[in-house]
Amino acid sequence: MAAQQRHLINLLLEMVAQQQRDGSSKRRPDLKRRQLQTARVQRCTCFIAAAAANRAAIRGSLRQHREAGNNNGAAYTAASQIYSEPEFLKQVTSGALSKSWGKPNVFKHDRSPMFGNGLVMAEGDDWAHHRHIIVPAFSMKNLNGMQSLMVETTKNMLDEWKKLMDMEKHEIDVEKYITKNAAEIIAKASFGISQDDSKKVFEKLQAMQTMLFKSNRLVGVPFSKLLHLKKSQEAWKLGKEIDKLLLKIITSRKEKACMINGSDDDQQDLLSILLEGNQTQKKKLTTRELVDECKTFFFGGHETTALALTWSLLLLALHPEWQQVLREEIMEVSHGEPLDSTMLTKLTKMGWVFNETLRLYCPAPNAQRQAREDIKVGDTFIPKGTNMWIDIVAMHHDKALWGDDVHEFKPERFMESSHGGCMHRMGFMPFGFGGRLCVGRNLSITEYKIVLSLILQKFSFSISNSYLHSPTIMLTLKPSHGVPLIVHPI
Ligand code: HEM
Repeated sequence: MAAQQRHLINLLLEMVAQQQRDGSSKRRPDLKRRQLQTARVQRCTCFIAAAAANRAAIRGSLRQHREAGNNNGAAYTAASQIYSEPEFLKQVTSGALSKSWGKPNVFKHDRSPMFGNGLVMAEGDDWAHHRHIIVPAFSMKNLNGMQSLMVETTKNMLDEWKKLMDMEKHEIDVEKYITKNAAEIIAKASFGISQDDSKKVFEKLQAMQTMLFKSNRLVGVPFSKLLHLKKSQEAWKLGKEIDKLLLKIITSRKEKACMINGSDDDQQDLLSILLEGNQTQKKKLTTRELVDECKTFFFGGHETTALALTWSLLLLALHPEWQQVLREEIMEVSHGEPLDSTMLTKLTKMGWVFNETLRLYCPAPNAQRQAREDIKVGDTFIPKGTNMWIDIVAMHHDKALWGDDVHEFKPERFMESSHGGCMHRMGFMPFGFGGRLCVGRNLSITEYKIVLSLILQKFSFSISNSYLHSPTIMLTLKPSHGVPLIVHPI
């Protein structure tokens, strides 16, 4: 098996190298239909090429990335196009054209244990129907009811930090703690984890996440699953177990709600809000669809929010003056009282730091689409089936859009506008674009402000000498070696 694996890896690497060699001669806007009909093998390697390009773009200056392959903002490979020009993106996706794009089939399959056919992957009427039911669940009114669980969970995490410091352990890998905390918060917010079954779902979701990240790196590469056959199988097995447990929870919630003739008042989570909202719909979400949505919230919601917090802590460690600015703002707004939802909305400068972090280290570094029909805009022809790789990181680091200080941490650029002074409104899109804008953005900003305020009120922090800066893209934009900080109580 080891020899077979090595052979397969060599083959894949050679395919990528060939792809990159071919890519430079094929980068042109009028990609021919013939090229799209190349073997699936070739198409799939584009994702590696694209991911490699992305990583190169982050490691070096994003300038090189633009110079290396951008024609009108789009760098072309055999069947996948990288977009990093907001105006071009707007033209090919807005208005009637928005309906011409779906999610790439290759992602739908490989990420199925995570998202099933939940909102992230749904398309067409199905997507519109789900979105119509789900969006109200994320209203500020509903989110306010979840704040206490965010505070309680985070306080437990900070108690653990305090215990470490009592033992003179001041170096803390904040990524590890923040991710665990965010996973617990999102699980509680999605389906509650106070009961046994819910706890089991949570543990299995976490295990599946680890498994999938180990086995699913080469999204869409033919036979890549063979490299991690056992882990892939285990992830799918875990997926089935999670579905079974979630089905049980949903069924029991439904029965309980019927018994008390209305909503289940003790539960203030997204599942109960969805169940309640579902009652009033003509076409209801089925139990199977609710299972997929719960998984989608967990996978779509926790790591992204955790990364926004983690990268912020790193940037604040590098800019202690901003720690102080935020502490003063928290004090001004709260006068030492626990923060409530009105106070959270007044944390304006913290909002700038949130945006500036999402600009510099965007947790969702790219978005993907696939043309469901032939698309023609001006003299650009995009044949049906073409995959589009939207390089959000490149847009957020584009000097032409942001100015010479593009790589600097300057939260105040968001003082005047929610787009941070970007030359194009679509040049800042940490939560996506168009009709598919992230449904969880209010939840994430609420959680971000609560967690960051609690940390800043109790601790100050600086960067540890053991920190290695190596952002990497594994679906999300993560630090490769955690974020160790030196933390002190204040
Ligand atoms: C800082 C935190 C977050 C970031 C940066 C983020 C980013 C994004 C982006 C870029 C998209 C668009 C993807 C695309 O167009 O292909 C998206 C969609 C989505 N996000 Fe988030 N997200 C965050 C938090 C959350 C949270 C907390 C939840 C839920 C609990 C969530 C649930 C979703 C869902 C369900 C979609 C699909 C929406 C649709 O297609 O209609 N996200 N997110």
